[in-house]
Amino acid sequence: MKLLITGGAGFIGSNFIRYWLKNNPDDQIVNLDALTYAGNLENLKDVDANPNYKFVKGDICDQNLANELVKEADVVVNFAAETHVDRSIMGSADFIRTNVEGTRVLLDAAKNNGGKRFHHISTDEVFGALQMGDPKFNENTPYDPRSPYSASKASSDHLVRAYFHTHNLPITISNCSNNYGPYQFPEKLIPLFVTNLIENKRVPVYGKGENVRDWIYVDDHNAGVEAIIKKGKIGETYCLGGGNEKSNMEITKLILDAMGRGEDMIEYVADRKGHDLRYAIDYTKAKNELGWEPRTDFATGLKDTIEWFKNNENWWKNIKNGDYKNYYAKQYGEK
Ligand code: NAD
Ligand code: TYD
Repeated sequence: MKLLITGGAGFIGSNFIRYWLKNNPDDQIVNLDALTYAGNLENLKDVDANPNYKFVKGDICDQNLANELVKEADVVVNFAAETHVDRSIMGSADFIRTNVEGTRVLLDAAKNNGGKRFHHISTDEVFGALQMGDPKFNENTPYDPRSPYSASKASSDHLVRAYFHTHNLPITISNCSNNYGPYQFPEKLIPLFVTNLIENKRVPVYGKGENVRDWIYVDDHNAGVEAIIKKGKIGETYCLGGGNEKSNMEITKLILDAMGRGEDMIEYVADRKGHDLRYAIDYTKAKNELGWEPRTDFATGLKDTIEWFKNNENWWKNIKNGDYKNYYAKQYGEK
């Protein structure tokens, strides 16, 4: 099978490529990524030499390039996106361009090349915010996005389903909860806090730290996407979650404890605008239909993730000092 992975130089996409090539060594992967601030080819150093892997630097909004690459693929898996809520609050233009228009370009490429199998990676944030006692999100929860990021992802999900209903495009969608693990960009909660503490900096908790997220280890998400690609029903959406709700304060204390630091390292900062209180996923459908469920318990996943950041200081220091942007030029000879 030939897969076109978009956004494969980011956090989840790079873990997915490594995961897929390990479990499906005869498959071929083309990774289309624009290498925005979040794209880092150092994430894929270990698969670079694999003859079944090829990197193409390019934008998913480029219709000609999308047509050319989709034509050669059996399956398109769309990870490419602008992903950070705080950045979407500062400016939403890139979010609309990549997340909405980029998805439209890929859908047209899939439609115009014989109706290619299309899997769209999305988020639980499209469902809005839960109050503390509310039942978890599931596939029937109405959409109610509340940040520019989640609104752009919601729009892309609607477009993907529209191409199924209108053009019979063989699509599936997954809406997953908050991921953590190796190679996560250190602007997100867990890698930011872990790397700050290694650098002896304090950790910025928004508001009172009472917001709740449902954390899933990245390869558990990837296993869910693999199950959907191989066994998912065309036209369907699957909710994937970690079964692991934690408040930001709980996460902060677990990280502080694991790193031998005290609560004096917490800096309470202004709350995020429109900060969604709680996300949580009911993954019963994926469990019943695909036999999928998350396998990594949080204590182990967090311990391994902290170890990874301790053992890979160069990786995140290159990001924090901007050096990671030179990797493409060194590897592929572009000035
Ligand atoms: P990321 O920000 O780490 O990576 C995004 C990647 O997309 C980068 O490599 C970037 O260069 C690339 N990209 C951005 N714009 C592009 C464009 N126009 N053309 C080509 N490539 C482009 O993101 P991530 O955390 O790995 O998330 C991947 C996907 O998973 C996203 O669709 C996101 O919405 C979804 N998701 C993420 C989480 C999470 O917790 N991180 C949870 C659920 C769903
Ligand atoms: P984040 O990792 O940005 O993911 P998302 O907003 O997509 O859920 O944030 C996770 C939670 O952590 C969210 O409630 C905001 C909070 N947070 C902080 O308290 N401090 C920080 O510096 C960051 C980045 C996030």
